[in-house]
Order: sequence, then C-alpha cells, then structure tokens
Amino acid sequence: MTQTLSRPDGVPGGTDVNPLRAGVASNRITDPCNVVFFGASGDLVKRMLMPAMYNLRLGDIMPNNYGIVGFSRSEWDTDQFRDEMHKSIDEFSRSGPAKDPLWSDFAKRVSYVPGSFDDIAAFKKLKEQIDKNDEELGTQNNRLFYLSTPPSVFSQIIGMLEQAGLGPRNNPKGWTRIIIEKPFGTDLDSARALQLEVGKVFDERQVYRIDHYLGKEPVQDIMALRFANVIFEPIWNRRYIDCVQITAAETVGVEGRGGYYDNAGALRDMIQNHVTNLLALVAMEPPVTSTADAIRDEKYKVLCALRAMDPNKIMQDTARGQYDEGSIGGKPVPGYRDEPSVSPQSNTETYAAVKFYIDNWRWADVPFYLRSGKRLARKNSEIAIRFKSIPHKLFGETGDHIGNNTLVMKIQPEEGVSLRFSAKVPGPKMHIRSVSMDFNYGTGFGVVSAPAYERLIGDAMRGDATLFTRWDAVERAWEQCMPILERWQNSYDDSFPNYSAGSQGPPSSDRLLAAENREWRKI
Ligand code: BG6
Repeated sequence: MTQTLSRPDGVPGGTDVNPLRAGVASNRITDPCNVVFFGASGDLVKRMLMPAMYNLRLGDIMPNNYGIVGFSRSEWDTDQFRDEMHKSIDEFSRSGPAKDPLWSDFAKRVSYVPGSFDDIAAFKKLKEQIDKNDEELGTQNNRLFYLSTPPSVFSQIIGMLEQAGLGPRNNPKGWTRIIIEKPFGTDLDSARALQLEVGKVFDERQVYRIDHYLGKEPVQDIMALRFANVIFEPIWNRRYIDCVQITAAETVGVEGRGGYYDNAGALRDMIQNHVTNLLALVAMEPPVTSTADAIRDEKYKVLCALRAMDPNKIMQDTARGQYDEGSIGGKPVPGYRDEPSVSPQSNTETYAAVKFYIDNWRWADVPFYLRSGKRLARKNSEIAIRFKSIPHKLFGETGDHIGNNTLVMKIQPEEGVSLRFSAKVPGPKMHIRSVSMDFNYGTGFGVVSAPAYERLIGDAMRGDATLFTRWDAVERAWEQCMPILERWQNSYDDSFPNYSAGSQGPPSSDRLLAAENREWRKI
C-alpha cells in the first residue's frame, strides 16, 4: 500500500510505503519552532544537518510551522545560504537531490545571519531574524540552538545568546533548548568548566549533548532486545556471560582533521563517549519507565559502578596503537604521522583498547573489553556478548571444539542481531559445529534506517532527551578515562607506529585478551 501524505500547507509530504510498519503512530513533531545552526557554513551542517532537516520535512516529520536560521562567519546573505544548502542537499541527502515544490517551500523557511561568535551586534540581528520568523512563519517563540562549531567557541556562543536576550530566561512564552556537539570538554577539568558556563544560562533539561551513536537505529534497539524480550534477561549476567566485547572499528584515517585528532586520540574521540554509551546500554538495569530520565538514571548507575582504573595496572589493562602505512580496500594509504597537520613524532593513539569491570551484582568480574581504532581492516561496530562454555561436554566427537554461544548486536555497516550456537553436522556421526542465526533490520522491516542526526534533531525538537547524554554521565565517563589519558600522555610509546593500515590493530591489543585466554572477534 502506498499512501501519499498531504499537509495543510498544500505541499505534498513523504510517501509511506512500508506495510510492515502499519499501525505505527505518526511521527510528526507537534511544536512549531526555529532551529538555529551555529557554524552553518561548516562541514557538519553541509553533509549531515541540513540534509537531515530536509529529509525530516520530506518524511513529513517537521512541524507545520518551522524556521531554520544559519549563523556563521561566512559573509553570505540568505539567498547565497539557500543556494549553498541546495547544493549540500543535492550532494549529501539520502533521498537524492532537492526537488520542487518541496524545496521551494523548505527554502522559504531558511534564512542566514552572518557574524562572528564574539559580535553582540550579530547576535542581536539573529534575535531580530528569530522574532521575524515567529511573526511570519508562526514559530511561536520556540527555539532550538545547535552548536555545530569547534568546541573552543561553545562557551562564548552561550554567553552571547544570554547577552542578546536569546537565553531561556528571556523567553517565557516558548521553550529554548540547546544541542551541543561533541566533544564536551577535552578532559575532566575542561568539561566541568564548560558545564559551568552552560549551567549559567541553561537548565539541564534544556541541554541536549549529542552523541550521534545513540541515534543509530541498532543502538536504540539494544534496549528493545533486552527489555522487550523475555529470553535474554535471565541469562544477562555474570552467571552466564563470559565477557563483553564492544568494537568501533573504522577504515577511514583522520580525513583532513589531523589538527583536531592529534590533540584528541582514539580514547577521547570514541571511547569516552560513543563506546562508553554502548557499554552503559548493554549493562544497565531495566529502567522503571521508558522516560528519558529513568533510562539515563540507569545508564549513570552503570558508569558509577565502573571500577576505577588501578594506576599500577593501566599499561596491563589497556592497549594503544598508531597506524603505519598500509592498504585499505587494495589502495595504499599513508601512516598517521604522514597525515596533514599531524606531528611527525606524534604520540597520539589512533587505536585504543581498554578492559573495564563493573562492580555490581550483575556484572562482578565479567570483563568488558572496549576497542576503537582508525584504518583497521573493516568498518565494523558491534557489541558481542560471549557466553560461558558449556559445563560438561556430552556431544561431539573427539577433537570437536564446542564454541561459546555469542550474541552479536551489529551496529554498522550491517544492522542486525546474530546468534551463534552449536548444531550437529548432518551425518551418522555426532559432530558439532558453530552456526549462526541472523536478523537484519533492512530486510526484516523493509526500511533503510534514517541517519542518526535525523532522529536526534527530531527528538530535540520534540523535547525528548532520551538519546542525549546527561551531564552526570559525561562527567563520570571523563573521570573514568582520565587516569588512562594521563598515563598515555605522559609516556611516549616507542613502538608507534605499531599496526599497519588495513590490519586488525596492534599486537598489544591481542595480548590484552590473550593474557586471559580470550581473543578478540575478528574485525
Ligand atoms: C566521530 C569521531 O564522533 O565519530 C570521528 O569524531 C569518527 O573520528 C566518527 O570517525 C565515527 O562515526 P561513524 O558514525 O562513522 O561510526
């Protein structure tokens, strides 16, 4: 069944072509609002955020009345900004080039204010534009500010918003929210300092700290898998689980972001935020309700139960790597130290592996192995739950190895769930082999998942903070990572570069598991 949705403004909306989703309530956002992008001429807006806005409109999810305002240093006017955004959508939108009449209707709601982030006059112009939108586009004083700028100007923009009368306290007639891109701080102190500035202007419930991993459909499904099924919960604990392996492997290098990355490294860039969030979702207790805070409370408790790294065991419980030249997809690629804007003696890790323990009744003594790296053999993000070995071997011929059951939540590029279990090989003998049962979201539901940013911007417009990171969790994650960061920063790794681009990562990472008679799943 194909149903064309029409809207009160007469412009056709998206098409709902999926019978498997019949009965799923409309996703339309009800509150009118303005969305203001700071850093509007930057890459994120171009590649992700504006295409996301356009596709929200195409999918008939945008509210009837909305305005989009770009703010950045580029000396454009509104027409130029619209042209630029048209080009971005043509190039990057998942639904293909922008089409009329939808584009013309969308573009009418897009405006631009040029200015630098320390220019109060420009912020006042921004306020005029927002007020104008409220009058002309019916956006009813609701405002969502999106900081997609370098983190160094986050505090400044927040201060300027307040000074220009755009803070929440100056807007009693509508809501004011702010989305803050990662990284939220570069270490514990800077994160606390940033939070201090944020807290002067915004209440926690108005702050949406983005972690785009949480917007990925399979990540959201972790909770559904755990709490919408009865079969997993009884075995989701130390009695049955041997270890948990969380992997976020990439094939890309630093992609022109050498300047940023060389000061960050894999631990800050991926483990402290994305990978830690995955750990919290896998390990949390069932929340009391499905509200944002009930879920975030449980995630926070997991982070509180993480065992603090013993300073004497950091080198033993972690592994770091830096890629050398090698080949990806059959093409030669340079080593990290030869990337633009990277120091030729760089001590920055492009691969990090960490072993954590969660000290509570459910998880005591179950190792959680986390790893993330660039220029690895394959792009592969997944969470693997490896169950314990069978207690007593009844079946299988001599020499048959009975593998451990493993449940894998595949996040990307494949999206799905796979269960590995033992089966008898057909034939007269009782040979046992491991086999897999696979579920794939694309074929299962007949849809392609929307990109994370689309989901997350929509949620922030709705006021649903479930998939955003609360300050207490950010702070805990920094606290946990700081001892490792400090140790790594203060000790030069003579083995760098220690893995070839296109490989499985550094040997030290394999040793981390081999020391406990385990091995990583192949990337
Ligand atoms: C970002 C990191 O947060 O996530 C990047 O800064 C990384 O370095 C990216 O490449 C990975 O995201 P995804 O969605 O491609 O897995």
